Amino acid sequence: MTDSNKSSHGEWSSRMAFILAATGSAVGLGNIWKFPYITGENGGGAFVIVYLMCVLLIGIPIMIAETMIGRRGKRNPIDTMTVLAKESGADPNWHYLGWLGVIAGFLILSYYSVIAGWGLSYVLNVFTGSFSGADGEKVQTLFNDFMASPLQQLFWHTVFMVVTMGVVARGVTEGLERAVQWLMPALFFLLLILVAYAMSTDSYFKGLNFLFNADFSKITGQSVLTAMGHAFFTLSLGMGAIMVYGAYLPKDISIARTTVIVAGADTLVALLAGIAIFPIVFENNLQPGSGPGLIFQTLPIAFGNMTGGWFFGILFFVLLVFAALSSSISLIEPAVAWLVETRNMTRQRACVWAGAVTWLLGLGTIFSFNIWSEFKIFDRTIFELLDYLTANLMLPIGGFCIAIFAGWVMKQEHCKKELHLTNPQHFEVWRFLVCYVSPAAVFLVFLNVVGVI
Ligand code: PHE
Repeated sequence: MTDSNKSSHGEWSSRMAFILAATGSAVGLGNIWKFPYITGENGGGAFVIVYLMCVLLIGIPIMIAETMIGRRGKRNPIDTMTVLAKESGADPNWHYLGWLGVIAGFLILSYYSVIAGWGLSYVLNVFTGSFSGADGEKVQTLFNDFMASPLQQLFWHTVFMVVTMGVVARGVTEGLERAVQWLMPALFFLLLILVAYAMSTDSYFKGLNFLFNADFSKITGQSVLTAMGHAFFTLSLGMGAIMVYGAYLPKDISIARTTVIVAGADTLVALLAGIAIFPIVFENNLQPGSGPGLIFQTLPIAFGNMTGGWFFGILFFVLLVFAALSSSISLIEPAVAWLVETRNMTRQRACVWAGAVTWLLGLGTIFSFNIWSEFKIFDRTIFELLDYLTANLMLPIGGFCIAIFAGWVMKQEHCKKELHLTNPQHFEVWRFLVCYVSPAAVFLVFLNVVGVI
């Protein structure tokens, strides 16, 4: 552990570098793979509005809090919580919040890597021309065959894990800054091309209507929980990823402004993905609620039928995998930072351990789609259970605690100093949100789901 002014893992070289890295963490499979399929499963427009409200009232205030805690602690999340609890004269048990995050990171990455592996396999599929001229049925058959094969998925999951841990082993601040710099604009550009394709279909307005026309009768307590959980998931909140990135953030940079930029970019990417996907869904008589396979059953139709589709298809899936990679790195960084700082491991060794555990856990997700598809706990497959446990429970609980810690436990003057907002009213607004609005909202959603209200 170091007591100097800087994190022992290095620092971001500029404000832009942090924005890029945090956006790299936030923008990932959550935006392009998960957001469309959960929107489809939860009936569209009303769900999207609840999700946007959650980003605004819960996500952004907590993201500011988490970054601030990270920068003040300058260590892995577990030790950061210990040090800041001590500084504030609070109970040392706050460090369990760090543990909750580290465990959530492992669990999320275990299935995240499997899905990123699907993306890798689709790069090859497009490359070999499997989708050229394809219709809905062909694309669906291809996807179902792939799901039925544990071996193929295992192969791609392994490739993805090895690459992720290879990058993490080399240290997060260097390679990542450079990679994300071109990755994000390229991904954005490709999404615009897909939106243009979606506009050329007859079902464009039907898709838009589904995405933005709110019918609140479709909303249930569970779907509000899913929307809120997704706000945490997509902004990488509640598990220490943003905290650990905040730890590498130089003192003079404005946390609030950078946070708003990152959250805005993240939301924009998700909405663009939705606008691109739903018209294709309706145009080809596919089901919006068809689950985790949604983008893998829709976008290949676009690539198989548009001019330049082969090239754009390869590029898209490559970018998707890179976006997943920049998120995966942040999922495992809290654990690796902890192993290095307190277990005296080299980064390389820490990566081998963390990677091996995650890889093994990933088998549960792979088998959920084939040989263990009938094996259910609480009526959910292993993949569904991991997803529910992390996104809908662990992240919101983590985020709730972060809000309480920043709002009620940390000394106000410390928060003020870290955030150094030029307008004092902004500080009051943030404090009000983080003290009352965000925790109360999370709490009410939980109460509603367990049936108390
Ligand atoms: N935000 C990432 C995504 O949307 C996933 C993630 C969750 C990354 C939690 C880090 C921490 O894909």
